[in-house]
Amino acid sequence: MNLDIVGDDLKVTLSHGEVVRFAHLDYAASAPCVRAAADAVQDLLPRYGSVHRGTGVRANASTLAYELARDVVAEFVGAGEEHEIVFTRNTTDALNLLARSLPPGTTTILFDGEHHANLLPWPNQLRLPTPSSPQEAIAALHQALKTTRQAVVTITGASNVTGEVWPIRELADVAHAYGVRMIVDAAQLAPHHPVSLTELGADYLAFSGHKLYAPFGAGVLAGRADWLDAAPPHLAGGGASAVVGDRPGEITWATGPARHEGGTPNLLGAVALAAVCEALATADRDALLAHEETLLARLRDGLATVPGATEVSVFGPGHPRVGIVSIALDGRDPAEIAGVLGRDHGVGVRAGQFCAHPLVRRLTDSAQTGTCGAGTPGLLRASFGLGSTADDVDRLLAGLRAALRT
Ligand code: ALA
Repeated sequence: MNLDIVGDDLKVTLSHGEVVRFAHLDYAASAPCVRAAADAVQDLLPRYGSVHRGTGVRANASTLAYELARDVVAEFVGAGEEHEIVFTRNTTDALNLLARSLPPGTTTILFDGEHHANLLPWPNQLRLPTPSSPQEAIAALHQALKTTRQAVVTITGASNVTGEVWPIRELADVAHAYGVRMIVDAAQLAPHHPVSLTELGADYLAFSGHKLYAPFGAGVLAGRADWLDAAPPHLAGGGASAVVGDRPGEITWATGPARHEGGTPNLLGAVALAAVCEALATADRDALLAHEETLLARLRDGLATVPGATEVSVFGPGHPRVGIVSIALDGRDPAEIAGVLGRDHGVGVRAGQFCAHPLVRRLTDSAQTGTCGAGTPGLLRASFGLGSTADDVDRLLAGLRAALRT
């Protein structure tokens, strides 16, 4: 099947010598590769050549494959005439590009619990405290927009720490009521839910191939073309320039995606990413979501019975989330426990602050637990998606229970 995981039978030798299947529960950092992405790369490798340069069958096939990939991604995000699809390295790259494309004098309104990729690039920020409910988020945004006129709003679609899904449509409606554009960091949302610009009410979406089962180094910025066409090129060089004169500064920059895709593009990354978009577009997304919900419930119910482990959240336990759960460990170092899970149980998770330091500090403070080392806050995170199983979840729960007992 095209959404099967490549390497889902990976074996690992545990510290006591037993060989077991590796239980991969760190999809939020990098998801494994699906068959569709691997096949697309395999198919193109014997034929690939330069993109937008050169002649002959290799160059022609490569240019065609690259532009077809752009069309597939455009369809995946429901892009219209006014939108552009730029291939980037990842979400961080996409959001940095957009941050440098904002009209001068624009204030970026955001909440302070964002991933660093959506926290650090924005030059002129109005940071709002992370709200404790969707209603509070909506009210805070209204309030901020009353006094900040030339603004954009940028918000994560789903938190990389708690997995909680943000009320993007409602927040976008607020932004648009004030004539302000909405940017969505969809890095963690896109692997789990359909991401349509129109349905989300987003003006821009950014996401990464390596979290969307296509780990070949491509990301996407999708959104309104006007600011992108007026912005300085993201990477000055060949491809981004239409005409170059003899003197420094005598340059006419390209418009369209080429303006920000200087240098030879990542063809195989774009093609792999598009192959996954295509496979997801024809998959039964409701069934995939239902499977994920079952695993989430199993994990969260199980965690409630593990002494010393407390699930964290911003909006409360009833709020919808994707397959991500972060856990505060009572007085134990999450990095040490994650190490034990890997070595003794063959379970891969992530420990620490997940490139979201302000949010993790807030969550560990409110849990009054989970501190590691000399007061460094940290959590243990489990995350999953396509191909994850009840056995993965059970192995984590058993391993955690055992690790916390010692
Ligand atoms: N942003 C990725 C994570 O949350 C790397 O783990």
